[in-house]
Amino acid sequence: MFFPAYRARRVRANETIRRMVRETILTPSDFIYPLFVTHGKGVKNEISSMPGNYQQSIDNIVKDCQEVKSLGVPAVILFGIPEKKDAVGSEAYSDKGIIQQAIKAIKDKVPGLMVITDVCLCEYTDHGHCGIVKGDEIVNDATVDLLCKEALSHAKAGADMVAPSDMMDGRVGAIRESLDEKGFGDIPIMSYAVKYASAFYGPFREAAESTPSFGDRRSHQMDPANAREAIREAEMDIDEGADIIMVKPALPYLDIIYRLRESTDMPIAAYHVSGEFSMIKAAEKLGWMDGQRAMMESLTCIKRAGADIILTYYAKDAARLLNG
Ligand code: PBG
Repeated sequence: MFFPAYRARRVRANETIRRMVRETILTPSDFIYPLFVTHGKGVKNEISSMPGNYQQSIDNIVKDCQEVKSLGVPAVILFGIPEKKDAVGSEAYSDKGIIQQAIKAIKDKVPGLMVITDVCLCEYTDHGHCGIVKGDEIVNDATVDLLCKEALSHAKAGADMVAPSDMMDGRVGAIRESLDEKGFGDIPIMSYAVKYASAFYGPFREAAESTPSFGDRRSHQMDPANAREAIREAEMDIDEGADIIMVKPALPYLDIIYRLRESTDMPIAAYHVSGEFSMIKAAEKLGWMDGQRAMMESLTCIKRAGADIILTYYAKDAARLLNG
């Protein structure tokens, strides 16, 4: 295509024609909204590094879920802050755990809203690691057994979907088997298949109170330098029975989302994580960026790269804007 026969600007001249040739359209249906559930009543503590996001008790979580649903956002994903933490994360798989209670309340009061649960131990262990610790090792197979118990207890409480985020090997297959065995064959698994060891989770760890007390997560989460390995991780999870595969974080890993889009027909989710959210909020606060435009541009680009679903702390704000 040569100038002047082709003038690229013709189709950019005004919003009407731009709208007609737009390749990627966001809708509120694209989003999953993360929520942090804590014990108590009437609790709503803002997370300082994530303005507009809160640790909330179940009564307030339910109100938030009503708003999420009314905005046309189809799903929430729940993270729990337990009353007591211990070495084996007992509250994660207790039938009276905070998440189990929250699921029941939401399913009861906000019918039609999909409730997804994060399946991991790091919020529930006193050492903040994603599994059982022996010395400085995170023990894989014994941890997988507990993750199965956790996923099962979420399903029993009424969860619509479980999302293992721990990155232990073999956990998707084991969770699939446990669910099937107990009559939860219809509950889908959204696996955090490609989860990198990322600095961008910093604000989340304040929100979920899950900072590891020693070491880091590099023995199970992926090295940010690797892309081919991401394909293997995703293929493994698909073979083990994952219904949706997730890439996390999102923006620094758009190439990974794109590669997966090219290599699989499975639905792909991308997690626009806490740090990605907080960076925009901070720059906006300093007057350095238009936060609203940065939000919509980020979400649009994640979808353009190939994500079908976006987990984002912006879900409500973006939906509000899209709904006009
Ligand atoms: C683990 C989990 C994490 C996030 C989601 N699930 C934190 C971690 O791996 O340390 C991070 C999400 C975010 O940063 O927004 N349960």
